[in-house]
Amino acid sequence: MAQLWGGRFTKETDQLVYNFNASISFDQKFYKQDIKGSIAHATMLGETGIITKEESDKIIEGLKGILSDVEEGKLEISPKYEDIHSFVEATLIDRIGDTGKKLHTGRSRNDQVALDMKLYTRDEVVAIKELLKELMTTLHNLMKENLDTYMPGFTHLQKAQPVTFAHHVGAYMEMFKRDFDRLSDIYDRMNYCPLGAGALAGTTYPLDRKLTADLLDFYGPTLNSMDSVSDRDYVIELLSALSTICMHLSRFSEEIIIWNSNEYQFIELDDSYSTGSSIMPQKKNPDIAELVRGKTGRVYGALVSILTTMKGIPLAYNKDMQEDKELTFDAIDTVKGCIALFNGMISTMRLNKENMKVSAMKGFTNATDAADYLVKNGVPFRDAHGIIGQLVLYCIDNNKAIEELSLEELQKISPVFKDDIYDAISLKTCVEKRNTIGAPGPEAMKQVIKINEEFLKNI
Ligand code: ARG
Repeated sequence: MAQLWGGRFTKETDQLVYNFNASISFDQKFYKQDIKGSIAHATMLGETGIITKEESDKIIEGLKGILSDVEEGKLEISPKYEDIHSFVEATLIDRIGDTGKKLHTGRSRNDQVALDMKLYTRDEVVAIKELLKELMTTLHNLMKENLDTYMPGFTHLQKAQPVTFAHHVGAYMEMFKRDFDRLSDIYDRMNYCPLGAGALAGTTYPLDRKLTADLLDFYGPTLNSMDSVSDRDYVIELLSALSTICMHLSRFSEEIIIWNSNEYQFIELDDSYSTGSSIMPQKKNPDIAELVRGKTGRVYGALVSILTTMKGIPLAYNKDMQEDKELTFDAIDTVKGCIALFNGMISTMRLNKENMKVSAMKGFTNATDAADYLVKNGVPFRDAHGIIGQLVLYCIDNNKAIEELSLEELQKISPVFKDDIYDAISLKTCVEKRNTIGAPGPEAMKQVIKINEEFLKNI
């Protein structure tokens, strides 16, 4: 047991209590952020004359040494310390002597941990945005390459109207663009520095909080010291954004699994992203897509945990908040893994364009266009809907597609049909004539691709 406190205690902490309370097993993950925050604090203490410049320099040098020694594996973060803050401070004192004892002037572990957590999550927001950018670049390329790769669009998992693979992928592109923007918004809202809030009520030392905030690239200091040490809204927002990313990846994974199935064969996952069965030699399973879908549950779990943890906590700091770390770390690592693996999976998969096209031609995906043909020739839409309904029934009874009927058969159901009906309901027409903004037609798609191109260039 190695603690920073103990002066007012007459007994040793019970070992089980110590173990239950300690956080070093997981908060050592942000040793870098803890040292970076301490360097900024020491710099500010020196600049304001709260400690001398020499003392400040000595502390900073000591902290830099600790950082490089940890990174180079020369110094092990020992589990005998209560938390990462205690480890860094005790090691500093051990190395530079009494001057090290001045580092914690005007600071509490409460504002220190609030800072560390913010620095850590802020770094991760940037890293996740980078991964999303890579994923969006893959989607963007898939869109550009598949403007005329026809496939059925579904509602209720029933064939509805024909679309293109570019259009389908484009739907996910929109989701990930929103996810990306959401992370940027969170970054902007969270980017205020809590250091200097002290335990809860600021301090009587003349700290320069603006300077500390500047040194750590924050927009400025937080404005209420009680809120500063007890705010975990940004963790909740981040976990909510990560949950939404997972939800999107999970929906996409579900489609990949369906498209990769024997029944669909729209795509084939690469061998390097598939797994086999220990008993069935023929199997090639989409485990990565299933795991991405499955891991979504963990991330939702983290969000619900932190919301529940925070809901009854009175101001200001309470130890409950230590619970924010493990689940946030796990959620961040999980989501980063999911995005990277998903990106690898879809950039290596093969498209069976012919199967997609054949599937789009079956299942009456051109029925709406057949009705629209009648409307353009003067039939009110509701009547046209009824006529095409009869036509579909006739086709089902005769095992034919609409375009396979002769003009005679068509005219028996409605005399409005003329020779140009076949062109009007061809797969190509059905897709290419849909050019309203956001539709699958190539003209509309090219406009969106241009917008996406700009989006990717500017992020
Ligand atoms: N390990 C603590 C946490 O994660 C650090 C803050 C401890 N502060 C305190 N007053 N015990 O929240």
